[in-house]
Amino acid sequence: MHGFRRQFTGELWQSSKKKTVKTTLLCIFLFLFIGTLVFGRWIDASIFSGYLSQKSILTSKQTLKKHEFPLDCTAWNQTQTCTKNYPTTNKPINPDRSSNQTCPDYFRWIHEDLRHWKETGITKEMVERARRTAHFRLVILNGKLLRWYPGRLPNLEMMFDCDDRPTIQSKDFRRPNSGPPPLFRYCSDGWSLDIVFPDWSFWGWAETNIRPWRNVLKDIKEGNKRIKWEERVPLAYWRGNPHVAPARADLMKCNVTAKDDWNTLLYVQDWNKESKQGYKESNLEDQCTHRYKIYIEGWAWSVSEKYILACNSPTLLITPRFYDFFIRGMAPLHHYWPIRDNDKCKSLKFAVEWGNNHSAKAQAIGEAASSYIQEDLQMDYVYDYMFHLLNEYAKLLKFKPAIPSKAVELCPERMACGEEGNWKKFMVESLVESPTDTIPCTLAPPYDPPALKDFLDEKFKSTKQVEMWENEYWDKVNSKKP
Ligand SMILES: *[C@@H]1O[C@H](CO)[C@@H](O)[C@H](O)[C@H]1NC(C)=O
Ligand SMILES: *[C@@H]1O[C@H](CO)[C@@H](O)[C@H](O)[C@H]1NC(C)=O
Ligand SMILES: *[C@@H]1O[C@H](CO)[C@@H](O)[C@H](O)[C@H]1NC(C)=O
Ligand SMILES: *[C@@H]1O[C@H](CO)[C@@H](O)[C@H](O)[C@H]1NC(C)=O
Repeated sequence: MHGFRRQFTGELWQSSKKKTVKTTLLCIFLFLFIGTLVFGRWIDASIFSGYLSQKSILTSKQTLKKHEFPLDCTAWNQTQTCTKNYPTTNKPINPDRSSNQTCPDYFRWIHEDLRHWKETGITKEMVERARRTAHFRLVILNGKLLRWYPGRLPNLEMMFDCDDRPTIQSKDFRRPNSGPPPLFRYCSDGWSLDIVFPDWSFWGWAETNIRPWRNVLKDIKEGNKRIKWEERVPLAYWRGNPHVAPARADLMKCNVTAKDDWNTLLYVQDWNKESKQGYKESNLEDQCTHRYKIYIEGWAWSVSEKYILACNSPTLLITPRFYDFFIRGMAPLHHYWPIRDNDKCKSLKFAVEWGNNHSAKAQAIGEAASSYIQEDLQMDYVYDYMFHLLNEYAKLLKFKPAIPSKAVELCPERMACGEEGNWKKFMVESLVESPTDTIPCTLAPPYDPPALKDFLDEKFKSTKQVEMWENEYWDKVNSKKP
């Protein structure tokens, strides 16, 4: 299990475990998550043999009352085959519940992520090249996929890599040598072409006792009401594993001491101890008790990001290198406060003091992020994002997806029935037992290049603005020193 835990970009274990272990467990989790949405798909066993028998997928439960397709472990235990009793066509759309609305803005990055293949399309050969680092191949036929939106997706075949860091470097695919391999993963960066996809934690994170996202969101919403912002500890707070990345070790220097007061409180999370004590100290809804929360990457992006942003305390976001699928829609000074990565302590101290001096503005930043997370990142939109990303991807395919000879059919039973503990609990909790009767939100067209440039320039300008304020502040402080 340790191998997998480390994946968490660091909230958990160190990355000392060797790749084999890590990869295996990691990916299994991925299944878990993909399974949730995806439903009758096959795994290319030639890449993956053996994994499925160990762990599996789960599906996400909706708050709908109907349980049309519950988990059937009795049948599974007898036959060990996926039953054919799964929804393959859409329900009629309920006009009262039909959302018919434009998707949140961050969905427009789907077009940017797939832009490299827009002219050429995606050939079988390109997909095969993505196999170099992929952990599994997923084939979806006849729309037997999303239980949430059965029958809506075109046939497709994709490669998924569950490791943390992107591997498809843009510099290797400059024109005219284009045609990069399309590879899905949880995060990417400005130098890579990897396609970002929601991570498993939306279906729960068993090792740390963090429930599926739908429920976590409700808990945090309740937690936010408990202590008013003014009554929270007027300092910046972070809890996590500092050993996964040098930047985190560097952050540790900013903790308050008798000698230095950086307005910052940092705690090392010992998940081993926590798991033995029943996770008493790691309840997410109890973590919105400080006025400011720090986000810092681990080995790559960190899953902690959405939990931190969901508190209505402003997030002090240490300049990240990596992005996941939703952060690109967020803006400095509006949704979070940017913190320099090369002078963290001074930057944090200034941010906290500024916020305490401008409490209305600070609160507005906290509120903006928390409503972005509560609304634009609600679970239904996570499914919509997966739907649109896969749908747009499938449109680019130049070949007919087919089931590889050694593939294994996946279904929720294969994933869940042999599970125990939190694994099983969260799978059942997040299981989609009935298709939705709404349609996916409407995907907006790609940004036109000037609009995208404006958006990015604006982000850059806000960050520079904060850095300028910071410089002025520290110049003043230093000039007062004897
Ligand atoms: C199916 O088998 C697993 C063990 O493989 C067991 O834990 C579970 O209770 C069984 N479920 C049913 C409904 O028989
Ligand atoms: C959704 O909105 C579009 C354009 O605004 C409209 O043409 C369409 O009829 C609407 N569909 C439903 C189901 O309301
Ligand atoms: C940071 O300081 C607080 C308060 O003194 C202390 O409880 C905590 O253990 C310190 N954290 C680290 C990582 O040293
Ligand atoms: C906060 O207010 C105090 C008192 O007015 C002032 O001395 C300090 O420079 C201010 N700090 C920031 C960061 O705005």
